[in-house]
Amino acid sequence: MPRIGLYPGTFDPITNGHIDIIKRAVRIVDKLIIGVALNVNKQPLLTLDERVECIHKALIEEFGNRNKTCDIEVIGFDNLLVDCAKKYDAQIIIRGLRQATDFDFEFQMCLMNQCLDPDIETIFLVATEQNRSIASSFVKEVALLGGNISSFVPKATYNKFKEKLSVLNK
Ligand code: COA
Repeated sequence: MPRIGLYPGTFDPITNGHIDIIKRAVRIVDKLIIGVALNVNKQPLLTLDERVECIHKALIEEFGNRNKTCDIEVIGFDNLLVDCAKKYDAQIIIRGLRQATDFDFEFQMCLMNQCLDPDIETIFLVATEQNRSIASSFVKEVALLGGNISSFVPKATYNKFKEKLSVLNK
């Protein structure tokens, strides 16, 4: 049976930190589903479609048009994470950990998901040193205040932000 992993997040926007986790996740699963949560609670800057588009472009940047991206599927979801996992036959939820402060929230979320569906395992991958300070909300704040985000995000995300900000600033 193929091992299918679900890497969920809001991805508003996808950052180099997320890419780091994706690159390592594809080594341990046969297929990776990147689940982009609608997540109205976070009031995302980018629409769900824009976030999915940025991820698709970032994957091409990272892996090229090689078959590698065939093992990765990007989907949007607005239901429970465990239901999304079941829908795509994913047995594993993958989450990235940057620092100890991420742990409490991740631990609670993992326990809740275990209660909701004990057959789905959560595994944590630790972000590399240079990505530990990146968070999507910081990236948005820096961009909105005119800072340079090019070293934190894939090129496609950078271009999307330039386009989005020029519309917002009109
Ligand atoms: N490198 C850099 N940054 C990272 C990272 C990494 N490896 N991993 C996470 N982050 C950052 C993100 O940029 C984000 O930053 P922000 O808070 O400033 O926006 C933050 O860490 C966490 O975001 P993300 O990984 O996108 O997850 P999330 O917390 O936004 O998403 C869901 C949480 C979508 C998984 C959760 O809300 C969910 O499961 N929703 C579905 C409904 C549900 O089932 N609810 C019950 C859950 S118990």
